Amino acid sequence: MSNIAIFASGSGSNAQNIIEYFQNSKNTHVKCILCNSLKAFVLERARNLNVNSFVFDRKGFYNENKVLDYLKSQEIDIVVLAGFLWLIPENLIKAYPNKIINIHPALLPKYGGKGMYGMHVHQAVVDNNEQESGITIHYVNERYDEGDIIFQAKCKVDSTDTPDDVARKVHELEYKHFPRVIEQVILKSN
Ligand code: GAR
Repeated sequence: MSNIAIFASGSGSNAQNIIEYFQNSKNTHVKCILCNSLKAFVLERARNLNVNSFVFDRKGFYNENKVLDYLKSQEIDIVVLAGFLWLIPENLIKAYPNKIINIHPALLPKYGGKGMYGMHVHQAVVDNNEQESGITIHYVNERYDEGDIIFQAKCKVDSTDTPDDVARKVHELEYKHFPRVIEQVILKSN
């Protein structure tokens, strides 16, 4: 059995989609949601889906081993970042080499880096009159959005699209591909 931990900071629609995808799996289990905000809607989704959650603050994440200890106690094999906005500290990167995966809502290396998340990304794509955007699923290293790319998928951006339109197209790609790519990464690493 491979155990997944999902880190999320906000709404958690991807987290929910991944949980539902693996709900009937015999060899993969989403064990817990980790979150850096008590107010995040993803915690309500976790409750509704009967998945345990663990909330931490900056101190617990960066200056202590609380999160790593929790992951170990849950026997986590793979960490999935689904709308998680903090940089991953070195202790986690070292404990899970090539076992932490992030999804970014654009075609990296474009529109990545600190401050480039959620609607900021889609706004920048529209402001620059891009004709396409998409998703990038990549391994996580100690820098924002720079780890090796596993998978990308594109969508068209029309000249009349608003940032909300782009967000909707990108979310569709995320729901379609992210769980499947996670499954492939797990199969490869076993
Ligand atoms: C997703 O679009 C994800 O790609 C993005 O945040 C959104 C979270 O949506 N992540 C980043 O921007 C990371 N830099 P969700 O909470 O509904 O899954």
